[in-house]
Amino acid sequence: MADFVLDLRGLAEHAHTRAYYTLRELRTGQVFEVLLDQEPKLLMDAVSLQLRHAIHWQVHENGPPLWRLSVQRREDVAPVNLVDLLERDHLRIDRLFASALHKVNAGDLEGAAPDFRAYVDGLRRHVEVENDLIVPLLELPRSANGQDPTSIMLREHDEILEQTTMLEHEFSEGVDEAWAVAPFFALISGALAKHEGREEQNLFPHWSRALNERPDEAAELLQRAQARLATTGPTEPGA
Ligand SMILES: [Fe+2]
Ligand SMILES: [Fe+2]
Repeated sequence: MADFVLDLRGLAEHAHTRAYYTLRELRTGQVFEVLLDQEPKLLMDAVSLQLRHAIHWQVHENGPPLWRLSVQRREDVAPVNLVDLLERDHLRIDRLFASALHKVNAGDLEGAAPDFRAYVDGLRRHVEVENDLIVPLLELPRSANGQDPTSIMLREHDEILEQTTMLEHEFSEGVDEAWAVAPFFALISGALAKHEGREEQNLFPHWSRALNERPDEAAELLQRAQARLATTGPTEPGA
């Protein structure tokens, strides 16, 4: 039973606006049913992009004349593939880092430390999966000048890990004043956001294509990556 039925039939070009404003309100644990009189892919892809991929949709009735979909929050469904898993992990790492940063800016160094440690652990696992599990298996072409997406990713990983290790060192020394670590936080915050964006735009489409051609290996890789990314510590900040 759906929590809400969104009937977009007969709305023509207004269907998009209605879909966006309604699906924006979708909460964890809820299922919305969407009824359409047109092919849903273009519309749902556009809305999903606007909502930063926070929703997952599935077709249950494939028209014409009627298309019936169910829509849930992405965190309510299991990752559908490796790229989906990694994109979710980007969001998780970002949230942990943002929470630590927020507390540092508020002068709460003690409160920031657990979030920061969870971020460090999550980042190291994530980089390990990308560098050691995926890169050797997919063997994408590399250019001699190092400007291909894989080489750029590996370089940026080194930089972010190095900056993170410096900050980790500061924390382990015992920080007295927030201003002493704030510049490191700013540095990493910028580098991390740019890196994840570049990966998602320039590298993940290549990974998706390569994995689609090797479904058996892709399924095994997804399992191994999931096991590697699963944490034993806190997964959500501010708990
Ligand atoms: Fe990465
Ligand atoms: Fe990544």
